[in-house]
Amino acid sequence: MAGIGFWQKQLHDEDRPRTISSIREALGNGAERWCGEYRFRTADGSYLHLLERARIVRNENGDAVRFVGSMMDITARKQLQDQVVRSQKMEAFGQLAGGVAHDFNNFLTTILGYSDLLLHESGVKGSTAQHIGEIRAAAQRASNLTSQLLAFSRKHPLEPRVVEVNSIITNLERSLLRLLGENITVECHLQRSANPTHIKADPGQLTQIILNLAVNARDAMPQGGRLTLGTGTFRVEGDAHPCGCPERLAPGDYVMLSVTDTGVGMTEEAKEHVFEPFFTTKADGNSSGLGLATSYGIVRQSGGQMCVTSEPGRGTMITIYLPRVAAPPAPSYKKPGSKKLLTGSETILVVEDDVAVRHISVRVLRSLGYDVVEAASGDDAQRLISLDENKKIDLLLSDLVMPLMGGRDFAEWMTNVSPSTKVIFISGYLDQAFQATDQGDIGMFFLPKPFDPEQLAQKVREALDTRS
Ligand SMILES: Nc1ncnc2c1ncn2[C@@H]1O[C@H](COP(=O)(O)OP(=O)(O)OP(=O)(O)O)[C@@H](O)[C@H]1O
Ligand SMILES: [Mg+2]
Repeated sequence: MAGIGFWQKQLHDEDRPRTISSIREALGNGAERWCGEYRFRTADGSYLHLLERARIVRNENGDAVRFVGSMMDITARKQLQDQVVRSQKMEAFGQLAGGVAHDFNNFLTTILGYSDLLLHESGVKGSTAQHIGEIRAAAQRASNLTSQLLAFSRKHPLEPRVVEVNSIITNLERSLLRLLGENITVECHLQRSANPTHIKADPGQLTQIILNLAVNARDAMPQGGRLTLGTGTFRVEGDAHPCGCPERLAPGDYVMLSVTDTGVGMTEEAKEHVFEPFFTTKADGNSSGLGLATSYGIVRQSGGQMCVTSEPGRGTMITIYLPRVAAPPAPSYKKPGSKKLLTGSETILVVEDDVAVRHISVRVLRSLGYDVVEAASGDDAQRLISLDENKKIDLLLSDLVMPLMGGRDFAEWMTNVSPSTKVIFISGYLDQAFQATDQGDIGMFFLPKPFDPEQLAQKVREALDTRS
């Protein structure tokens, strides 16, 4: 048949075998129709997504004699579909990350709580106390990790703060290894801690940038290779520029972060356009060409600069310079037990579905002198309160996210029946809706998980001592 060879040649390589064998099967098995989707090359070399519906005309012996098809261009529909699938995937991944972080925060609150209780017990001294201190410090580090996960899942308000670049990379190492696969090795050349690399940035955004660069490096090394992460500090004086980039850096101290691969490298033309939105050389349909553009935007907004060094066949190095800031003064966690916790005698209702977090909270509050009532859910708490209507609850300490009746609904009910009750919400994630509406309310407080007994004691006093 004339033309069939031409048609076959224009089919996308990946779709050709499947499409042809499916047509063969239809021709051979007596079918009267065939229908299929494939990519088809146009005169300018780009591909269209086609949906073809065909009728198979047969002679009296049942042999196929004609194949009459009509084709519909579904490229736009396909792209839209892909976009939806992609954003749903990211959404689902974000939700998963947020969920894992939430559960971890419950465990960490328990670990921090019991470590502190142990440290307060009189017989605990010397190496035992030291070991418990180590456990506590590890839980603190884990809580930094969960806050990174939350940042990724966007359930965390974006906030620039002083962060240490080396620690972000160290925390990311595991995820990177998973992301890059087995045939890419990862090396880190990090600035030694004597000269720390603090910058002011949103840790979530910075994480995103490093991941974008790592994914690009992976794509550039389909046969495997080496990815090197480097950090360092750098001082710009006068007109000097760290890597000969045309754009200048204002004089000052910078932290440098570089991601280097041994991949295919870039042409001069690609180098010129890499930071432009929608510039991509990837035809896989999954790449939007926004990775470097958004990264560049964030870096520039933060007063930094991003440079490319690359040659075809010789790999690529992307270097980021961000203004360096002084390290924050004190270590982020104080030595526990050094301070007397704030006490009180009011009545507190604790509503929390995680048994371990509820127990530690109740124990700590009782040890501080409070009268504590506990419930595992909003419904249980309602029942409890209805049983003893004379009991005055001064403070409600409630988890925000719970199965059945959520913390917010219960708090609403509670403040209706008892307007003078103060409310502290505890939660593993700061959900947008909460921030916008409730944080401004008088009498509403928020305690993020994980928390230690000192933070709990302090927040409880703060809430109780605020006049409404
Ligand atoms: N490490 C690298 N090695 C070689 N080329 C690269 C590298 N990083 C980026 N590029 C080139 O720059 C282009 C733009 O990169 P960018 O990250 O902005 O978009 P993308 O990776 O194509 O798509 P997206 O990141 O949105 O999924 C890439 O398509 C590629 O051609
Ligand atoms: Mg990319």
